[in-house]
Amino acid sequence: MITVESVAKNFGGIRAVDGVSLSIEKGSITGLIGPNGAGKTTLFNIIAGAFPPSSGAIYLDGEDVTGLEPHELFHKGLLRTFQIAHEFSTLTVLENLMVVPGDQPGEQLRHSWFNFGRVKEIEAKNLERALEVMEFLQIDHLKDELAGNLSGGQKKLLELGRTMMVDAKIVFLDEVGAGVNRTLLNTIATSIKRLNEERDYTFCLIEHDMDFIARLCDPVIVMAEGKLLTQGTIEEVKNNEEVIEAYLGTGRKHERKAPA
Ligand SMILES: Nc1ncnc2c1ncn2[C@@H]1O[C@H](COP(=O)(O)OP(=O)(O)O)[C@@H](O)[C@H]1O
Ligand SMILES: [Mg+2]
Repeated sequence: MITVESVAKNFGGIRAVDGVSLSIEKGSITGLIGPNGAGKTTLFNIIAGAFPPSSGAIYLDGEDVTGLEPHELFHKGLLRTFQIAHEFSTLTVLENLMVVPGDQPGEQLRHSWFNFGRVKEIEAKNLERALEVMEFLQIDHLKDELAGNLSGGQKKLLELGRTMMVDAKIVFLDEVGAGVNRTLLNTIATSIKRLNEERDYTFCLIEHDMDFIARLCDPVIVMAEGKLLTQGTIEEVKNNEEVIEAYLGTGRKHERKAPA
């Protein structure tokens, strides 16, 4: 579904992503792991159109989408979740879902400005969808709560909910488990799995919680220092010497060299 071809990104003198090639298979929940500073978020940003790569290309279903804007990718079904932006914190959960741009083309929307019936129809559909999304994610009891008052985990569920307001094909989640309690992390994991199995969502997620990765992801891609280190099942990558070195750094090398 996604092919990343020799992508590199420089920030001044820093080579944040250094010639990464990989592919994300349709229907997979692909994990992206690696130590801090490995270049994972930068790679996500490039794929989702936040900025273009310094070199290399991104393909979505065989189409070259390198350098497209986030909203263009959004309309092609490629979504990346963001933290609930400041301006959305004063909207309710329901409103946060309702303001996600629908998949109707802008022309039609402008036209519908003069067509009250059509507006009502779109709104009714949108509301129905939002209610269904809240139920799916078990946040329906929070319908009228301001997004700013939600816990970290509830916000993550709302972010996931926003991707469900359009027909997403592939969703990128960056550190979805950060600061989320066990119970909600479990709800998030179950929701991701159900969206994958029941609605054909493909996921690519960055996460530091290895239990979360192990439970959901196959394959797991490992990055370190801007490069792709290896790819495989969680068991394969966990036992990979290079991966262990990347996580533990040089300390381990010294330890191993020390006399018994
Ligand atoms: N906007 C930026 N400007 C300058 N350097 C950046 C920027 N974003 C990331 N970097 C640098 O690129 C490297 C990779 O960062 P990042 O992609 O955030 O890694 P990860 O998500 O794997 O922790 C780091 O050295 C980081 O400091
Ligand atoms: Mg990151």
